[in-house]
Amino acid sequence: MIKMKFEEVKEMSSKYLFQNYGRIDLSFTHGKGCYLYDTEGREYLDLVAGIAVNSIGYAHPDWVKAMQDQVAKLCHVSNLYYVEEQAKLAEKVASITPGDLDRTLFVNSGAEANEGALKLAVRYTGRSKVLSALNSFHGRTAASLGATGQTKYQASFEPLISDAYQYYEYGNIESVKEMVSKDTAALIVEPIQGEGGVRMASKEFFKAVRDICTDNGVLMIVDEVQTGIGRMGTWYGIQNYDVIPDVITMAKALGGGAPIGAVTTTDDIAKVMTPGTHGTTFGGNPLVTASGCATLDIMKKENLVQNSHDLGARWIADLKGIKSDKIKEVRGCGLIIGVEMDSNETAAAVQKHCRDNGVLVNVCHGNTVRLIPPLIINDAQKDVFTKLLKECI
Ligand SMILES: Cc1ncc(COP(=O)(O)O)c(C=O)c1O
Repeated sequence: MIKMKFEEVKEMSSKYLFQNYGRIDLSFTHGKGCYLYDTEGREYLDLVAGIAVNSIGYAHPDWVKAMQDQVAKLCHVSNLYYVEEQAKLAEKVASITPGDLDRTLFVNSGAEANEGALKLAVRYTGRSKVLSALNSFHGRTAASLGATGQTKYQASFEPLISDAYQYYEYGNIESVKEMVSKDTAALIVEPIQGEGGVRMASKEFFKAVRDICTDNGVLMIVDEVQTGIGRMGTWYGIQNYDVIPDVITMAKALGGGAPIGAVTTTDDIAKVMTPGTHGTTFGGNPLVTASGCATLDIMKKENLVQNSHDLGARWIADLKGIKSDKIKEVRGCGLIIGVEMDSNETAAAVQKHCRDNGVLVNVCHGNTVRLIPPLIINDAQKDVFTKLLKECI
């Protein structure tokens, strides 16, 4: 294939694609480890990882081999049949999820995982209402947009397809108590609000949520789409709070770059999803589940959850140690870190300074520089960002 120059890629994209993304003027041809290479041959240290997807880095040789082998054997068959790689991945997921969360449904994305979990809760409880947090993010499909508690995503799509949602204040247990009722099927919550600006709630909050859900027959769904698979220094973010939910949803890092999502729950809850109640053509096909198996094997072999925990803690300590009135707050856990700047302009300036010096970072919620790098990142690489941040401020 003839390689295209950046301007050609941009022009063709502008002509033929929906213009629903505000894209940065960059296009990449390949990646290796923590680095991406653009159409003009420039190298970038990537601290975005495809928005918390590429945890094992780019082109990991074991992952590439697993994918190549699988493509050569079998890419897709229907869920009309048993799929070996799907069964193997489900077993691997069961081995890392907390408690009795041992039964999995595979889908294609994070939003789809949440939709599956919400359907599951409605069917299991026979109730219709869902509590979701203000400032949350659970996806942008028509129904998951309702769960996403941010008006900026919902505006212009109202009335929302589902009027099932009520929004509690993240971290405020009184607000949950006020809303829970005999109609509540589920409460959905993120271990850290990633898209919401890397916002955290306390262990007490999560424990109290667990108790309220148990006492009221409400399913506690933890959305681990961004935080799952090691991002918070534990396999699942909720493990930081010593709480076992009823349902976990995940996606992003599970496939190491292949599009996959999953809903995991207990035997008892899963049994309401009888044949025909839910499904998707591509869900858990041989290719994506082989990619999931390879990803989890690499994560274990290379101790990446531990690296996320240890390196993340050192990085957060370094960043908290920077004294500047340009930094409002440093938040995070493991390798999801938010550096809240004093303004949107400062955050944009940090992002630009990094990019000009070959480092990619993401800005979320306007003023927060979000670091969600591959979990294979090392200290020297993390220090590159810290130095650039200091320079910029
Ligand atoms: C917590 C959370 N839930 C759900 C989603 C939606 O996932 P997807 O974009 O794969 O549909 C995201 C995406 O950023 C997310 O961060």
